[in-house]
Amino acid sequence: MEKYLDMQGKVCVITGANAGIGKRAAFQLAQLGAKVIIVSRNEGSGKKAVEEISKETKNNHVYFFKGDLSYQASIKNLANEIIAQWNEINVLIHNAANFDLSMKQASLTEDRVETIFATNHLGPVLLTNLLLDLLEKGKARVITIASKGLLAYPLMRIDFNNLNGEQSYSPTKAYYQSKLAQLMFTYKAAEVLKTKGITINAIRVPSVQLDEGRLEHVPALMRKLYKVKRKFSITPEKMAETYVYLAASPDLQHVTGKYFNEDNEIISSSKYSYNQVEIDRLWEYSNELIQVEQW
Ligand SMILES: NC(=O)c1ccc[n+]([C@@H]2O[C@H](COP(=O)([O-])OP(=O)(O)OC[C@H]3O[C@@H](n4cnc5c(N)ncnc54)[C@H](OP(=O)(O)O)[C@@H]3O)[C@@H](O)[C@H]2O)c1
Repeated sequence: MEKYLDMQGKVCVITGANAGIGKRAAFQLAQLGAKVIIVSRNEGSGKKAVEEISKETKNNHVYFFKGDLSYQASIKNLANEIIAQWNEINVLIHNAANFDLSMKQASLTEDRVETIFATNHLGPVLLTNLLLDLLEKGKARVITIASKGLLAYPLMRIDFNNLNGEQSYSPTKAYYQSKLAQLMFTYKAAEVLKTKGITINAIRVPSVQLDEGRLEHVPALMRKLYKVKRKFSITPEKMAETYVYLAASPDLQHVTGKYFNEDNEIISSSKYSYNQVEIDRLWEYSNELIQVEQW
């Protein structure tokens, strides 16, 4: 059997594809002949990524769309622009994430939601919902991104009473909760979207090398720690291969609601992440925050 399905002309949307793993995944999908939509909040690096990828892969179907995943208005604008220009989507990768662990206190977005949770969890939920018609037409594969770091927090739960840092705040906790929430969203959405022919699976990303200059704004000590961590990290190119596996492998045509590691194996997440009561509670809570009633 072929390693990948024929991706020629398939429409692949990747958020945060101006840098890091997302950019490498955009490159690899463009190499396979897909039409690649690079979503970035940064016009400069987003358009530069389009130029580089088009030039190196000789694929002229690479496009820039502006979107800031932390703001609901920006996500709505992004979705409207995609809907205006495309008839279907075959792959949607929710790669963008905020992991600024140098934040000392909770910062709220203009929607009054803590920034990390808004960007890493609510953003993907809202974007998926707004693009549902196109995803259904493309019998799409939706891919969410969690983190191997969650293994260090096996007892982590969604702290519904403190998601905006009402009682206490730790950016690390906010980040891992947002990734746990993405996993729980994946399990719920897999059930909900089954009748539409849309699959959704999650990837557990281990430590991956960051692009040069990504850490300029963080304190010196943190930069030093990252330098050590880099030695034990895989390359973004290698990690992107798993993104492409989930996007294009013929083995996964009907696989949904699963969690994959960087070796493309199906793995389990924490016991809590499968708790149906909590999954349903998070689903309702998230839908309320983004004012979505229908899936
Ligand atoms: N690297 C690791 O060790 C590691 C470990 C576990 C999980 N992960 C996950 O892997 C994914 C990719 O990370 P990476 O390693 O490639 O890091 P990265 O190079 O920092 O990429 C993160 C991307 O997300 C974008 N982004 C952040 N906030 C955004 C917002 N509000 N709106 C739109 N885009 C936004 C960034 O855009 P800007 O350029 O504008 O900032 C960037 O393109 C993330 O989901 C991350 O949580 C990474």
